[in-house]
Amino acid sequence: MLKHFLQFRDFTRAEHDYLFERARVIKARFKRYETYHPLADRTLAMIFEKSSTRTRLSFEAGMHQLGGAAIYLNTRDTQLGRGEPVEDAGEVISRMVDLVMIRTFEQDIVERFAAHSRVPVINGLTNEYHPCQILADIFTFIEHRGSIQGRTVAWIGDSNNMCNTWLQAAEVLDFNVHVSTPPGYEVEPERANLHGTGHFEHFADPMHACRGADLVTTDVWTSMGWEAENEKRLKAFADWQVDADMMKMAHPDALFMHCLPAHRGEEVAGEVLDGPQSVVWDEAENRLHVQKALMEYLLRGRIEN
Ligand code: CP
Ligand code: NVA
Repeated sequence: MLKHFLQFRDFTRAEHDYLFERARVIKARFKRYETYHPLADRTLAMIFEKSSTRTRLSFEAGMHQLGGAAIYLNTRDTQLGRGEPVEDAGEVISRMVDLVMIRTFEQDIVERFAAHSRVPVINGLTNEYHPCQILADIFTFIEHRGSIQGRTVAWIGDSNNMCNTWLQAAEVLDFNVHVSTPPGYEVEPERANLHGTGHFEHFADPMHACRGADLVTTDVWTSMGWEAENEKRLKAFADWQVDADMMKMAHPDALFMHCLPAHRGEEVAGEVLDGPQSVVWDEAENRLHVQKALMEYLLRGRIEN
């Protein structure tokens, strides 16, 4: 059956556990310089309607390392930018490649593309979700601290695509998320597509959200697409900067993560981002390894060696 990865909860807990274990194996082999080409002759199309450094690099390098090829498309110089319907693009592109990754605006766009695709589609970030990043973040947590089940993640700042995806992941993998946002920027459970299983708690005070957390994480105050609100957001979010005092409220061995790119002095203090609890560079690298596991799984299914 054709599988897509459009939201974190498109995969079961067993599938996520498999991906984390598979990413570990693929990463270790790659570090030993072992050639591994399960996707020889396969092609990935990457469609970007928004900017990217990490997502493009990790998918393109990852596909190459698995023996396949990647093609970069952006809406500025494809027919998508001139009004070709996304449904038609899905029909055509999926007859020429084996796998598609899309970074775009509304989630509805990736859903419509996938409904007309013959091949698996991966969400490379939408306004609503960023599931590949949360795969990398949880894999990074597991590498440093073991299972995330029963642990507490503190999300400080905007209730954006990253926050929504953490909340979905908490339901799938059974951990807790403490969210603190400024008034007016709260989580919208419908937009996050939550089942309301009690894995999420809102805190008015970000210090309280951090109390006892095993992981403190944040993201930019102004996501791509919301640039017009930048000045207003700088003021509204001023008290939601993750700084050393906030980190002191968390568990003494708490980790700090940020999907990057980061703005030191806005959502995170430089001393936290560059400090001993921060694992942001491992987190960025792990995009490569988890997405290789994801692409292998979508095209080849479970592999036991
Ligand atoms: N974290 C992330 O998705 O980075 P890019 O925008 O650089 O792809
Ligand atoms: N929330 C950010 C993440 C960037 C990787 C955005 O959507 O711009």
